[in-house]
Amino acid sequence: MSIRNIGILTSGGDSPGMNAAIRAVVRTGVFLGMDVFGIRRGYQGMIEGDIFKMKTTDVSNIIQRGGTILKTARSKEFMTDEGMAKAYDQLQIHGIEGLILIGGDGTFRGANKFFEKYTIPAVGLPGTIDKDLSGTDFTIGFDTAVNTAVEAIDKIRDTAEAHDRLFVVEVMGRDAGYIALNSGIACGAEDILIPEMVTDINDVLCRIDMDERRKKTVHILVVAEGDDYGGSKKVAETIMARFPKLDVRNCVLGHIQRGGAPSYADRVLASRLGHAAVTALNNGTTQVMAGIINGEVVYTPFSNVIKGTTPVSPDMLEMIRVLSV
Ligand code: F6P
Repeated sequence: MSIRNIGILTSGGDSPGMNAAIRAVVRTGVFLGMDVFGIRRGYQGMIEGDIFKMKTTDVSNIIQRGGTILKTARSKEFMTDEGMAKAYDQLQIHGIEGLILIGGDGTFRGANKFFEKYTIPAVGLPGTIDKDLSGTDFTIGFDTAVNTAVEAIDKIRDTAEAHDRLFVVEVMGRDAGYIALNSGIACGAEDILIPEMVTDINDVLCRIDMDERRKKTVHILVVAEGDDYGGSKKVAETIMARFPKLDVRNCVLGHIQRGGAPSYADRVLASRLGHAAVTALNNGTTQVMAGIINGEVVYTPFSNVIKGTTPVSPDMLEMIRVLSV
């Protein structure tokens, strides 16, 4: 039986490119003769029936915009049996026969729980700046977030250079260090601390000491927020205590990394995956996430989409140290 009515939602932390994905889903759905319903504020809006029919013109002029026109939320209620029952009722009331879910790890955990109880065809899209999902080489928003971090760290380097300062810059990534690793390499950081590697603070201090002896005047340390030592503030304090003569500053980039116009790469990725997701739903390929692996669209069953990070090769960190001399 072909699916006529589909619902689309964005859930969890927003990421640049979600709007481009929504646009692709709505326009592909309408092209295939479907009615597309926007569900506001993720699973919470599904529970509350915050659902409206979308036209192709509703997604005009949004491909270049950050955020998500559907808004997003992290719904605790959806993780309860009552919340899921309410959400399912709302889908029935609106005649929604298929779902497109855009989000990160929490979105897929919610989906897995929901589909254990309720049968409704669905396809997911990876939307998170953290790039911490298996089943895809890239997630929608990651490229933009890294570019935003790079732009900011370049600016920090200018002022660090002017004052001969050491900066400890914190980038996002509660459980994954991809933003830190990639922005750090791209900005020529002296050191990069990520959750995937246990931080040896003495090693960090030792390298600063060596740099000091060599009269290196500028240091940029990029620290992922989830680094096990306890965050950039603690790293900065430890450095200050050990090197009282060093002029140390701590800068947390924060949510600027989540906003802004998506890069071309995120727009293309979101468009491809949005189109592929609706096409899959229409062809009966369901309960999968559409991801990109080696440049090709790949579908991974929801049950195999887990929060995952590829181990960071020690060669990569070694390279950073060699290049930042
Ligand atoms: O979107 C992922 C992420 O950016 C994490 O890296 C970060 O820890 C988290 O979101 C913060 O989200 P919020 O401020 O929305 O709770």
